[in-house]
Amino acid sequence: MEILPKRSLRGVTPFAPEQPNEQIRRELGLKDIVRLCSNESSLGPSPRALAAYRQAADSLSCYPDGGSPGLRAALARHHKLRPENVLVGSGSDELIRMLCEAFLDPEDEVIVSQHGFVRFRQQAAMMGARIIEIPMTDWTHDLETMARAANPRTKILFVANPNNPTGTYSTAFELRDFLQAVPATALVVIDEAFYDFAVENDDYPRTIPMGLRKHPNLVVLRTFSQAYGLAGLRVGYAVGDPEVLGWLDRIRLPFNVNLPAQRACLAALGDQAFLARTVAATIKSRESLAAALREQGFGVLDSATNFLFIHARIRGRALSRALFKRGIVIHPLDEYGLGDHVRISVGTPEQNGALLKALKSVMGEAA
Ligand SMILES: Cc1ncc(COP(=O)(O)O)c(C=O)c1O
Repeated sequence: MEILPKRSLRGVTPFAPEQPNEQIRRELGLKDIVRLCSNESSLGPSPRALAAYRQAADSLSCYPDGGSPGLRAALARHHKLRPENVLVGSGSDELIRMLCEAFLDPEDEVIVSQHGFVRFRQQAAMMGARIIEIPMTDWTHDLETMARAANPRTKILFVANPNNPTGTYSTAFELRDFLQAVPATALVVIDEAFYDFAVENDDYPRTIPMGLRKHPNLVVLRTFSQAYGLAGLRVGYAVGDPEVLGWLDRIRLPFNVNLPAQRACLAALGDQAFLARTVAATIKSRESLAAALREQGFGVLDSATNFLFIHARIRGRALSRALFKRGIVIHPLDEYGLGDHVRISVGTPEQNGALLKALKSVMGEAA
């Protein structure tokens, strides 16, 4: 007898991560792997976060504090909010999953943007929701049309700002109009995973102070994975109305964020000077990488993140494979229906140099 999962899961394929470095080293016989596929920070975490992480080793026989109260309170202070306005998750991935689990009944509608972050549609589809996809304009979310598509069946509108994989952002004006236009019966989830890299732009929205008080249906997601350089610890957080977050808190696993992760993130949050240095160095490195790629003839979109969205000149998968053989891992974008594009994380100047050299050789062979 075949035991099938629920209907909404039957077409779901497992997440296919890039191969681990160790496996690549073995397979290709290479010593150095340059990993530019997952938007990780090439500059690592704050030394204060590392020290807190190491110190946490003394407490590993204990369960972590359920609900991450210390980190939650610190984040609330950081954003000048109450702890009830914050919920900490195992990466913002977990919060996206919890939002879908807590709020979506089968057949509810979820509005996403074409080429918007893939996790939104994946998680919503697993709950049996109907996904409404709104085309982008110039690689940017069409927030006006997204808001117009909302109706009484709409439960969540998901917007990554800036967006992964395009690296583009919607402006404060666009977002303000969007929040005003969406009916109060639908949740608006603004995923600001790359906030720290985008906020240098004057027209990038300050969503938390601007929108939270006026819009109880707004949830903002942030993460320690990118600018804080702590992707391995899996910590993200949601900011929103206590009533909305209260539903997520009810379905949260009791110890969803592990003990070293809570301690390290608390220390990382306290080291804003390190964060500022990371952001400045990444932006500098991003701009020189973009210029060098354009010089090589690639189409590169302006980015407000720590990665670049690139027209690959050949099929994205072929380019990724050719670079892979040279020990450089980038991210093809077939899962986004963008077979001619790739996404490349900004590395250190040395890593970027290795990438540019390899690209020259790959494109020379392809010519
Ligand atoms: C837009 C966006 N949201 C959420 C995530 C997931 O982040 P986390 O590592 O916090 O789960 C990512 C990861 O790259 C992302 O690009």
